[in-house]
Amino acid sequence: MTTLLTPNDIACIVAAHGLPAVLERLETAITADFLRWPEFDKVARVAAHSSTGVIELMPVADAVHYSFKYVNGHPGNSRLGLPTVMAFGVLADVATGRPVVLSELTLTTAMRTAATSVMAARVLARRGSRSMALIGNGAQSEFQALAFHHLLGIDTLRLYDTDARAGAKLLRNLHVAPGLRVQVCADIASAVRGADIVTTVTADKRNAVIIDAGLLEAGMHLNAVGGDCPGKTELAPGVLQAARVFVEYEPQTRIEGDSQQMASDFAVTELWQVLAGRAAGRLTADDITVFDSVGFALEDFSALRLMAKLAADLGLGQHVHLIPTLDNPKDLFSQLLPAQPQRRAA
Ligand SMILES: NC(=O)c1ccc[n+]([C@@H]2O[C@H](COP(=O)([O-])OP(=O)(O)OC[C@H]3O[C@@H](n4cnc5c(N)ncnc54)[C@H](O)[C@@H]3O)[C@@H](O)[C@H]2O)c1
Repeated sequence: MTTLLTPNDIACIVAAHGLPAVLERLETAITADFLRWPEFDKVARVAAHSSTGVIELMPVADAVHYSFKYVNGHPGNSRLGLPTVMAFGVLADVATGRPVVLSELTLTTAMRTAATSVMAARVLARRGSRSMALIGNGAQSEFQALAFHHLLGIDTLRLYDTDARAGAKLLRNLHVAPGLRVQVCADIASAVRGADIVTTVTADKRNAVIIDAGLLEAGMHLNAVGGDCPGKTELAPGVLQAARVFVEYEPQTRIEGDSQQMASDFAVTELWQVLAGRAAGRLTADDITVFDSVGFALEDFSALRLMAKLAADLGLGQHVHLIPTLDNPKDLFSQLLPAQPQRRAA
């Protein structure tokens, strides 16, 4: 049997533990897996591009588990009543190939992305960072805001989105965090001015310039989340030139990240090296650091394993016959004989 986890199951996990605790456990799980980076079989994700967006497959494996995520990115989707990003994925047993868990990954992606951003900021942002600009106030934004508030101590947020309704929605949803001071700004420059951390999480299918070098201030950390596809970036090249740049999996980020705009020998450092103490993170309080985030399969692997455990502990999830159950594994044909039509629920 395979365990099916739906968005409602994930919401039940969050209701049982609280979002801060789930984000914290995600950060711990992702950090632990990044620290055993060499144990994983890794590959840049496989992308199918169209004029409206991209659909990607993200596989990774260690000796025990294999996982993949199906995820899309369609910045025009909200006009059709669909999210920009939708995802699901599988955790399988390497020894047999059996799919153990089939899970929603739309909510889970938002949480694991925020947890990964915090993991990076923990080693890259200035100590004592308290204020963050949050540019792009769509589906991912609450998760980024609350992860940085609860896990890193950000207490002041300045928001900007070209869609004022997105900012108003974020402001409303952030009432769950009364300790957070939140201000909606009229433009990017006023949101960014004086911020310790700048998070960009916009969706647009072009080389946008959300942050240009003129907005940089000594000591800033940029958490650049929305530039994650060829031809889809948020930072002007001058920002990258002025900064020390950190990435998840270099072969993937050079194709998809803001770093795609730079020469192939432009210096980037993989984050796991910093976490493992093999490479330096921030060197001085004045460094400008960039986490050129694109989302890597290992983060979904960690998240799938954690969500599967939390679901099992709470008795959540539905056992489904995704694979035939056979008395004689060589007699697959027998599966056809007692077939009962199963009507879809209305
Ligand atoms: N790095 C990762 O691991 C990762 C994970 C998930 C999503 N993403 C990316 O994050 C981005 C946001 O995802 P989402 O699900 O929140 O999308 P969304 O469509 O729900 O929200 C994006 C917001 O960006 C705003 N926006 C677009 N252009 C802007 C601009 N120039 N200035 C200010 N705001 C602008 C839009 O109005 C919208 O409200 C996407 O590009 C997605 O691909 C990255």
